[in-house]
Amino acid sequence: MPSLPPGRLFYGGDYNPEQWPESVWLEDMRYMKEAGVNLVSIGIFSWAKLQSAPGVFHFGWLDRLMDLLAKNGIMADLATATVSPPAWLIKLHPEILPTLADGSRQWHGSRQHYNPSSSAYRAACAELVTALATRYKDHPALAMWHINNEYACHVPADYGNETAAAFREWLKQRHGSLEALNAAWGTAFWSQHYYDWSEIIPPRAMPSFQNPGQCLDFARFSSDALLECCLVEQRILRAITPDKPVTTNFMEWVKALDYRKWAEHLDFTCLDIYPEPTGSSRPLAQNADMTRSWRPDVPWFIMEQVTTHVNWRSRNATKRPGLMRLWSYAAIARGADGICFFQWRQARAGAEKFHGSMLGHGDPATQRCFQETKQLGNELAHLGEIAGSKIRAETAIYFDQQNWWALELPSKPNADLKYNRGVENFYTPLLRANLAVDFAFAVSDLSRYKVVFAPALYLVAPGVAEKLEAFVAAGGQLVLTYFSGIVDEHDRVHLGGYPAPFRQLLGLEVEEWAVPPDDRASSLAITPAGAALGLPGKLASSFWAEAIRAEGCEVLATFTEGYLAGRPALTRRAHGKGHAWYLGTELDAAGYAALVKTVTDTAGLRPPLAAPADVEVVERHAADGTRYAFVLNHRDEPVTVSDPSLRGRELLSARDLAGALELPPLGVAIVRR
Ligand code: GLA
Repeated sequence: MPSLPPGRLFYGGDYNPEQWPESVWLEDMRYMKEAGVNLVSIGIFSWAKLQSAPGVFHFGWLDRLMDLLAKNGIMADLATATVSPPAWLIKLHPEILPTLADGSRQWHGSRQHYNPSSSAYRAACAELVTALATRYKDHPALAMWHINNEYACHVPADYGNETAAAFREWLKQRHGSLEALNAAWGTAFWSQHYYDWSEIIPPRAMPSFQNPGQCLDFARFSSDALLECCLVEQRILRAITPDKPVTTNFMEWVKALDYRKWAEHLDFTCLDIYPEPTGSSRPLAQNADMTRSWRPDVPWFIMEQVTTHVNWRSRNATKRPGLMRLWSYAAIARGADGICFFQWRQARAGAEKFHGSMLGHGDPATQRCFQETKQLGNELAHLGEIAGSKIRAETAIYFDQQNWWALELPSKPNADLKYNRGVENFYTPLLRANLAVDFAFAVSDLSRYKVVFAPALYLVAPGVAEKLEAFVAAGGQLVLTYFSGIVDEHDRVHLGGYPAPFRQLLGLEVEEWAVPPDDRASSLAITPAGAALGLPGKLASSFWAEAIRAEGCEVLATFTEGYLAGRPALTRRAHGKGHAWYLGTELDAAGYAALVKTVTDTAGLRPPLAAPADVEVVERHAADGTRYAFVLNHRDEPVTVSDPSLRGRELLSARDLAGALELPPLGVAIVRR
């Protein structure tokens, strides 16, 4: 498999030299070397500069740039430049422009203004990518390919006529016959029956609730349509440069794209992430773990983050000094082998001129962004031994993209149901407990895990319940939560009493849902069985409740109010060598922490080191058995971490430790053990 040169961490950013006179490029090279930059992403938005008409290319400037990079020992992550179709192409093929659900069009003048199903767009991409790959295939600066940019960031789906035709073809492949489609979509409802394929359209603006089966298939189709755009390029690159890795930059928590499926076609995954600088590091950690989990076999990259602040929030808070460094190490701790930024040099014009950068508008000698960039780059240059080491998690959060699409379709018992709520409920306490966590999918091998949390698993496709049951039988602890096991892959209810696919495994039936009308919390009472497992005296419950009838499970907590008083809220059933747990309500943060602790204690899980609150500890494991413990102080005050096993060389200070470590505010240590 094509891969990047081993034994080093990659450091750099998006570089847009086409926005600057070539005299500035020499200064860029000098500062890049000063900052330890070894990789830049170039050409992302360069289509208009590279091509002025069909077959008419202008590679002179890119030739000079590639040569300059090679001369300075900086690798090129060469973009295929297809994200922003130039004005001449739109004039020639206005049908490329996207159509919204209400039938209106979007225009040229910003970026990503293309319909993924447009054949003219795909053909133009193929022409450009072929020309680029042919020209630079043997260039010494070429290290990897960056396909397009942030697919679906602005246009996740198109609703026009060309898309409608493509959607029908996709549906024919999926369902085989109209009869099967009518059955899958439940079109006997509201007179929605189809007699001919040509009657089917994308779920455009409609008077009332759309058909859920149609919406679910359209979500699948739209992800596949963009994936096909990516594959049009990937196939060309594979054919012309089979030894060069290809990737495309993923974003955080993206609903539109089934990234797990996408990742199979890339050589490694990468993440663009811009957490609110005044918020917690949870989004960074969670998305880092997800990005790694899409392709657990290979290291991943942060492809974009910002040194200071973005320009696209209504108030763009800045990262305080030290935070960029801390969060960069937090990503490396979770398996990243590359740390890159948007962008190298801050733009002078255009919509992003006030977006933070590695090199700002002022004097680099006094710029905080450049000084912090330089410090980190020079540190990473000495940490090459970490590259390629892996995370070994014994806990997984089960994640299913189809479930996400289905769960958040409208007309549910509670409109505020969100998949991320369920994921975060478990992710947050696992992060705080410093227990490493992977995301696992229908295709994953679960046997490597001791605990699997499967929140809000509403859609259960064929094979999934069997897989989870086998995990429990083999000794795993499985935690399912409310409104799980409800529908099949077409969003049709699994009959046989909720949650039909899990009823036997859980030993219960959910007779009905009892969603509270407001946010008021009530309390759960812990049963002696729950107390024996270490659950605290009381747990707070809100948002959702269920009338659960125990059919062979242990009851660990019960509701205390209304007609549910005394009925099960939290249960567990032994099955084979493991347990299947079920939570029929929403807890508060303390409640989830207590539940996670109880379950992970049952499985005998321990963090790599004892550490005070808000000190993150994550370990990377090298193939030769060396472990690198990343100790990250998220507090704005110094901390002491003491643990008898905290021994070995601290790599950033090059000191040997003997069981304790002082960390300054936002400080980082990497201990080779
Ligand atoms: C995205 C894009 C970049 C830039 C940044 C700004 O990540 O990929 O081109 O627009 O956002 O935050």
